[in-house]
Amino acid sequence: MNDLRDQLQRPLRDLRISVTDRCNFRCQYCMPAELFGADYAFLPSDKILSFEEIERLVKVFVSLGVKKIRITGGEPLLRRDLPVLVERIHHIEGVEDIALTTNGTLLKKYAQDLAKAGLSRVSVSLDSLDEQRFAVMNGHRGKVATVLEGIEKAAEAGLLVKINMVVQKGKNEQDIVEMARFFQEKQHILRYIEYMDVGNSNGWRLDDVVSKKEILEQVQQIAPLVPAVPHYTGEVATRYQYADGQGEIGIISSVTDSFCATCSRARISAEGKLYTCLFATEGTNLRDWLRADIDDATIAKRIAAVWQQRTDRYSDERNEQTMAKRQQAKIEMSHIGG
Ligand code: GTP
Ligand code: 5AD
Ligand code: SF4
Ligand code: SF4
Repeated sequence: MNDLRDQLQRPLRDLRISVTDRCNFRCQYCMPAELFGADYAFLPSDKILSFEEIERLVKVFVSLGVKKIRITGGEPLLRRDLPVLVERIHHIEGVEDIALTTNGTLLKKYAQDLAKAGLSRVSVSLDSLDEQRFAVMNGHRGKVATVLEGIEKAAEAGLLVKINMVVQKGKNEQDIVEMARFFQEKQHILRYIEYMDVGNSNGWRLDDVVSKKEILEQVQQIAPLVPAVPHYTGEVATRYQYADGQGEIGIISSVTDSFCATCSRARISAEGKLYTCLFATEGTNLRDWLRADIDDATIAKRIAAVWQQRTDRYSDERNEQTMAKRQQAKIEMSHIGG
């Protein structure tokens, strides 16, 4: 089944698994505090996939061609005993790479255990080095200093660290250059993410996007950049090296320069739904299959059938009509993972 292809001839290589829909931040572009308040109904624990169920699914997906696993959330480090899950996934034959996307607040506590368990890489989100602007963006929940400490601990533990910065017009575009300088010096790869219309909560407008072109122009104030050769087909970030050889940056340009043609990513939400696009409106309930008396081979066949039917290319097709069609129907980022 390794040659499984969707309708656009794209293979299935990456699996992104959300382990919780909860987060200790309230980033305005993801979980705005006014919508995710004290009375918000997060998933109860019996609705969330157990580690056993996740392990079982990873084995099935590996049999279908998946090689890379990324653990996401919400904030994945809020899930109790996460290193135990990492260790279980690490022992599955065929898994070549395990990464984690986190806001970094709990990394100081868990970095060592995660590295020991077999995690290779972390992507840490950080939108500004300015405490005030960072606070506004994360809903006044976290401090730059804590995230930076987490990043240090992750690097000390031997994890490869990348930094993700969502750039929003009028919010943090003034931080583009300072972030580049800071992380060039720290020798961590910084990736700028164009603000996206994920979910229905963030009130996204095209005018709020700072484009890849604008970001590149700003970073070139530090030093000239040269395009880097992609590490693999379908790499999410377009990578650039500083011409003087001192490090690199990436830009994730889902809005102004989309990359659906090579998208080999499937996503599983915390409640066990399979989504074949970040901008999906509907998923396939894998949890029901896991909890019914259905064997792995049958589950594999059904997942293969979903992938073979796949035609998703939302970012390639994004326009007023496609956006209107999905109005209020997209899955929230905190459910589907990044
Ligand atoms: P590597 O290339 O394996 O390092 O990881 P990555 O860049 O896929 O992982 P990461 O979670 O750090 O991704 C950064 C951000 O890119 C995500 O949080 C999303 O915002 C965005 N992203 C990742 N995959 C996709 C995708 O398939 N489509 C779109 N539109 N955005 C994506
Ligand atoms: N647009 C772009 N990036 C987003 N992220 C969350 N919501 C959005 C959005 N609307 C980013 C986070 C994190 C990753 C999981 O996705 O900042 O880096
Ligand atoms: Fe939490 Fe990440 Fe969403 Fe911010 S972007 S609210 S840190 S899940
Ligand atoms: Fe893949 Fe959908 Fe993102 Fe396109 S928009 S790259 S199909 S997840």
